Amino acid sequence: MRIAIGCDHAGIEQKPAIVEYLSAKGYEVVDLGCYSAERVDYPDYAVKVSECVASGGADFGILICGTGIGMSIAANKVAGIRAANVTRADMAPLARQHNDANVLTLSARFVALEENEAIIDAFLAAEFEGGRHEGRVAKINALD
Ligand code: RB5
Repeated sequence: MRIAIGCDHAGIEQKPAIVEYLSAKGYEVVDLGCYSAERVDYPDYAVKVSECVASGGADFGILICGTGIGMSIAANKVAGIRAANVTRADMAPLARQHNDANVLTLSARFVALEENEAIIDAFLAAEFEGGRHEGRVAKINALD
């Protein structure tokens, strides 16, 4: 499975560890930046990762900023993207099961690395349930 990852200067606190975590688990990770603590604009990285996922360059995207909020707002502007800002592991499966989320946005300032790793594990392990959720997701997709 191929995962595109991106962050801003707030997310750089956790991105290297998350890249290592995913690589050690055998995922192919495409790191689209940023690569230093120099201030950058999170929408630039949200778009890079989202376009990679939307074009089929990756199966899922992970975006990390201070809260995960700005990344989710920006990512959801890209056609084909359903981004979920998840801050606790027990919500992560639902983002896949009910919403068919294809981008996960994380907070580096409010959520510890270990919890974010648990969120990622739960998100990637879950599958879209379809059924009654199919039509709802189709209505989201129709908004693109
Ligand atoms: C950067 O200071 C911060 O605004 C950004 O990382 C993010 O939290 C935005 O939603």
